[in-house]
Amino acid sequence: MYPIHRNRRLRTNDSIRSLVRETTISPNDFMFPMFIAEGTNVEIPIPSMPGIFRRSVDLTVKEVKELWSLGIKAVNIYVKVDDKLKDNTGKEAWNPNGLMQQAIKAIKDAVPGMIVMPDVALDPYSVYGHDGIVENGEIINDATVDALTLMSVSHAAAGADFVAPSDMMDGRVLAIRKALEESGYHNVGIMSYSAKYASSFYGPFRDALDSAPGFGDKKTYQMDYANRIEAIKEALDDVAEGADIVMVKPGIAYLDIVREVKNAVNVPVSVYQVSGEYAMVKAAAERGWLDHDKIMIEQLHCIKRAGADLISTYFAKEAAIILNK
Ligand code: PBG
Repeated sequence: MYPIHRNRRLRTNDSIRSLVRETTISPNDFMFPMFIAEGTNVEIPIPSMPGIFRRSVDLTVKEVKELWSLGIKAVNIYVKVDDKLKDNTGKEAWNPNGLMQQAIKAIKDAVPGMIVMPDVALDPYSVYGHDGIVENGEIINDATVDALTLMSVSHAAAGADFVAPSDMMDGRVLAIRKALEESGYHNVGIMSYSAKYASSFYGPFRDALDSAPGFGDKKTYQMDYANRIEAIKEALDDVAEGADIVMVKPGIAYLDIVREVKNAVNVPVSVYQVSGEYAMVKAAAERGWLDHDKIMIEQLHCIKRAGADLISTYFAKEAAIILNK
């Protein structure tokens, strides 16, 4: 008998393909990253991220209502603060009336069901554009962690559901968990950027926030893209320190890491399909070299197949519109 296996039998038509399909995606899987600007009625397009804007709080709220109506349940929030508010301590980061705190409050007031996950890292507030406090050209760990705990508690006070430390300092998850507990925010969760690589895929994001490091790079805290083992260690450490969700970032080029982390931990794994990944698809589609919608939907399936339980993606809205059809 030849061939022994006719594997194509399960691919014969759309019905059988649907029946044996292993991975499905829905708007419930997505988190939408949003950039916040000062002012009112402000909407600034980000040239390297077509379709993505930096918006003032009022227009952000409008957008969040639309996302909610499309079935999107979470937003990741990043702010661009005025240069004159930046210093080396990052103290604007825990200003109770700061831009981030205002945004969190406004979103939760308008759409209470939306899970709001502000970014916790000092780079938008740092004169050096680094995620931590700088001393003699070095990013110092423990003083930065102290600042991150103040920042996290102020996000919780503003109404954040989760805080999302993206700074890659050591010990920050435990310190943040402890500070949240001590302040009575038992139900505020931590989504930790656990395996965050020092990646050139973040370029458009840094354009969006004007947050490129002023000197050097982020390789003393973000991970070497050549490494795998430390990603597992970072994720396990963060779970042990109290992270509710661990993240791998970037996405598509790091799906081997996603799968390994997924197999290693007993908490949900999120994946950040980052700005550069978005930009590549947009650029190729603009030239007519790739089919935008098909590539977008395929990539989201692949990220989920690799092991993502949640996906932070700039495609969230466009993908939700297609999936809701
Ligand atoms: C900053 C932060 C970055 C991203 C998320 N949080 C940039 C960086 O680490 O330099 C990148 C996200 C993206 O590229 O979409 N702590």
